Amino acid sequence: MTATADALETYLDANHDRRLASYEAFLRIPSVSALPENAADCRRAAEFLADELRTMGVEHVEVAETGGHPLVYGDWLHAEGAPTILVYGHYDVQPPDPIEEWEKAPFEPLIRDGRMLARGAADDKAQVHMHLRAAEAILATRGRLPVNLKFLFEGEEEGTSVNLDRWLEEHRDRLAADLAVISDTGFFEGNLPAITLGLRGITYFQVDVLGTAVDLHSGVYGGAVQNPGNALAHIIAALKSADGRILVPGFYDDVVPLSDRDRHALAALPFDEEAFRKELGVPALVGESGYSALERRGARPTLDVNGIWGGFQGEGAKTIIPASAHAKISCRLVVNQEPDKIYELVREHILRAAPEGCRVEVTNLGGGLPSLTPMDHPATQAAVRALEATFGQRPVFIREGGSIPVCASFASILGLPVVLLGFANPDCNAHAPNESMILANYETGIRTIVRYWDELAAIPEALRA
Ligand code: BES
Ligand code: MN
Ligand code: MN
Repeated sequence: MTATADALETYLDANHDRRLASYEAFLRIPSVSALPENAADCRRAAEFLADELRTMGVEHVEVAETGGHPLVYGDWLHAEGAPTILVYGHYDVQPPDPIEEWEKAPFEPLIRDGRMLARGAADDKAQVHMHLRAAEAILATRGRLPVNLKFLFEGEEEGTSVNLDRWLEEHRDRLAADLAVISDTGFFEGNLPAITLGLRGITYFQVDVLGTAVDLHSGVYGGAVQNPGNALAHIIAALKSADGRILVPGFYDDVVPLSDRDRHALAALPFDEEAFRKELGVPALVGESGYSALERRGARPTLDVNGIWGGFQGEGAKTIIPASAHAKISCRLVVNQEPDKIYELVREHILRAAPEGCRVEVTNLGGGLPSLTPMDHPATQAAVRALEATFGQRPVFIREGGSIPVCASFASILGLPVVLLGFANPDCNAHAPNESMILANYETGIRTIVRYWDELAAIPEALRA
C-alpha cells in the first residue's frame, strides 16, 4: 500500500463510528418527497447535506430552490487540468408504508446482521453518504482531491424529478463537466459487483372511472347501470394479452430490438431463474413470451398496475355499486420509446376500451426517458478497475429495470456521459418494508469511490475526447 492509501485507510478506520452515526442521522430525517406533510423534512435533509459539504471543505454550497423540494449544490474545483465530475444522488425516499411490516420504525435505523435497516438505507441515502465520506477522507488526508467535483443532490427523484430539468437548463454553464457519476443502482444477484449500463424509462398515469355521484344499492340498481369497478377491470384487461404482450397499438413501434450481442451478454450472467422464483415465493415467473426473465426485467417494456381501489374495502359484505374506481398504472420503457408519446397511445387505447355508461379520465403523473451507457467508454472501464481493485471481483455489466430520469437529462441538457456506479445489494428491499444496505458494500464502496477518482485523474485526455 502507498503512503497516501495508508493514511486514507487509517483515517477511515478512525472515523468508522462517527461515519455510521452520521449515516444514521441522515436516515432519521423522513424525507419522503411524495407526502406534503414531509416537505419540511425534505428541506432538513437538504440542509443536512449542505452542512456536511461545507464542513468537509466543499465550496459554493447552496440549497437551491426549484419550485419543489430544494436541491443541494456544492463544488471543489482546484484540481487544475484534471477531469471534472458531476456527482448526482437523491436525498428523498419513498413512503414507508406499510409501517406494520417493518421490524423497527422506518426512520429509526437498526443495525442487524451486518446491514443497516431503514427507509433510504440503500436508495439512495447510503450512496449519497458514501460520496460525502469518500471526498471527506481524501480532503482530510491529502488536502486536495485528484479530480474536480460538482455535487448535485436532489429531493424529487422518487417523483420523476419534475423540477430538475428546468434547473439544469438554467445552470448549464455552472454544471459543465466531463462526466456524470450516479450512485443509485445496485449489484447483481448474489451481491456481485456490477455496473449498470441500461436503465428503463417510465410513464406513469392514473385512470379514474366515474359512475354515479354516490354509491348505489347494488340490488336496486345492479343490472341497469355501469359498474365502475367492472368497467375498470375491463379496461385493464384490454391493455395486455395473456402472454404478456401489451395490446396498445403502436406501443412497440419505437422499441430498439435486442441485438444478438445484448442477448448473449444477458444470457451469460450468472442468473438462475428457478432460484429467483423460489426467493420470491411465487408459483411461476410470468411475462412476455419469447424473452428470458432478465430480458423482461431490464431490456423489454412493461405495463403494470401499481395500485387499484374503489368501492367497499372493509370487512364483510356491503352491497353497493361503487361511485368510482381507480388505478395507478406505469409502463417501463426502453430505448427509443418516448414517455409522452407512449402516454398518449395508452390513453387513447384506454378511452377506446372504456365501456359505455361511465366517464373515464386519464391523467399523466410523470415520466422519464430510458438510457444506455456504452460499455467501452473509458470512464466505464475506469469504474471496472476501481470495483475490481476494491471488491476483489471483476464487475458484471447489467441492465436494470428501474428508472433514473436524470440520466437522460444529463445527456440531452448537459451533453454528459453517465456512469452508473451503484452499490446497493440486490436484496435491499428498495421501496419496500425493511429496506437495508449491507454495511460491507457501504464501507468498501467508499474505497471504490476514492479509487475511481484516482483512476479518472489518470486519464484526463480520454475523458475529454
Ligand atoms: N434508485 C432507483 C432506480 C433503480 C431501481 C435503479 C432499481 C436500479 C434498480 C430510483 O430511486 C427509483 O426508484 N426510481 C423510480 C423512478 C420513478 C419514480 C420515475 C423507479 O424506478 O421507480
Ligand atoms: Mn434511487
Ligand atoms: Mn427509488
